Amino acid sequence: MKYQRDILKNVEGYTPGEQPRVPGLIKLNTNENPYPPSPKTLEALHALTLDDLRKYPDPVSLRFREACARHYGVPGPEWVIAGNGMDELLALVLRTFVDPGDVVNATYPTYSLYEVLTSLHGCALEYIDLDDDFQLTDAHYTAQGRLFFLTRPNAPSGVAIPRADVERLCASFPGIVVIDEAYVDFSDDHCLDFPERFENAIVMRTFSKSYGLAGMRVGTAVARPELINEFMKTKDSYNMNAVAQAVGLAAIEDDAYVCEQVGRIRATRERLRKALLELGFSVPDSHTNFLLAYCAPEPGAEYLFQQLRQRNIIVRHFKSRRIDNALRITVGTDEECEALVAALREILAG
Ligand SMILES: Cc1ncc(COP(=O)(O)O)c(C=O)c1O
Repeated sequence: MKYQRDILKNVEGYTPGEQPRVPGLIKLNTNENPYPPSPKTLEALHALTLDDLRKYPDPVSLRFREACARHYGVPGPEWVIAGNGMDELLALVLRTFVDPGDVVNATYPTYSLYEVLTSLHGCALEYIDLDDDFQLTDAHYTAQGRLFFLTRPNAPSGVAIPRADVERLCASFPGIVVIDEAYVDFSDDHCLDFPERFENAIVMRTFSKSYGLAGMRVGTAVARPELINEFMKTKDSYNMNAVAQAVGLAAIEDDAYVCEQVGRIRATRERLRKALLELGFSVPDSHTNFLLAYCAPEPGAEYLFQQLRQRNIIVRHFKSRRIDNALRITVGTDEECEALVAALREILAG
């Protein structure tokens, strides 16, 4: 294509999990929350006026950021930036802190969007393998890139490395460390105190998982004010629309609701893990709302994926090194997970 930019010649683009509109489909492929967001978010939607839509939104999402700062326990809104989903902030962190041609590091495996974003930005992503238990190794602590993407808890394994290891990484790494906490609400601890302790730490959050707001597109990043100021220079003027600001605010203020849904999902996760282990899968202990279930070589993950699909159950199968014989399964409702286990039992029984 004669109009194509050179940089795009080798970029495939990100492949999001499919969103088929099939009635009765059991959709366990994109780590959405099986429960609806807080009813307060609907009240916030109804309270919006036509004037709210007519006018430009607050360019810096101040009320929302103030609520986030309170919730996160950081000194004030100048420690938080809000965005159109975390994915926007992941792209923005490269635009803000990385020059084209620089080296960016990430663990392997990890969230595959980082690779797409770095190639679009014209820089190289150097992966450093996690060990067999999905833990950091000495090689991570000697990485020398401009920025490090660390997903904690890790996707797609679900494993959370110890906080002490994140500390060691922040202390040893010469550039920015992005701690992607997309799934942290399903875990036991978090790193929101890191920006106060490490000048290079940026913690990112999404409202797509624990808050059940994937369709609304709300994400945040927490960092020292001098880093947030740099972000403010590169973001779009109105990067968070008026509806998302109002809904995000209502969601973060209804902590009790989120805690209840997260508790339900964690309980289902443990039941599902036990059932998968009993079926012979090998499943790392997950601190997220999904499980990575390694299959026996026969019949193998690809076969199981296709068979589940024929039964109207979709999970995620990545054809990538180290994870190609595993299924990544989102924790759905108890009923959805029971249907999945029953289907797997039937398929494995041949
Ligand atoms: C590890 C990780 N980070 C970030 C995101 C993106 O979140 P958002 O929906 O806010 O763009 C996802 C979504 O799947 C994710 O898995």
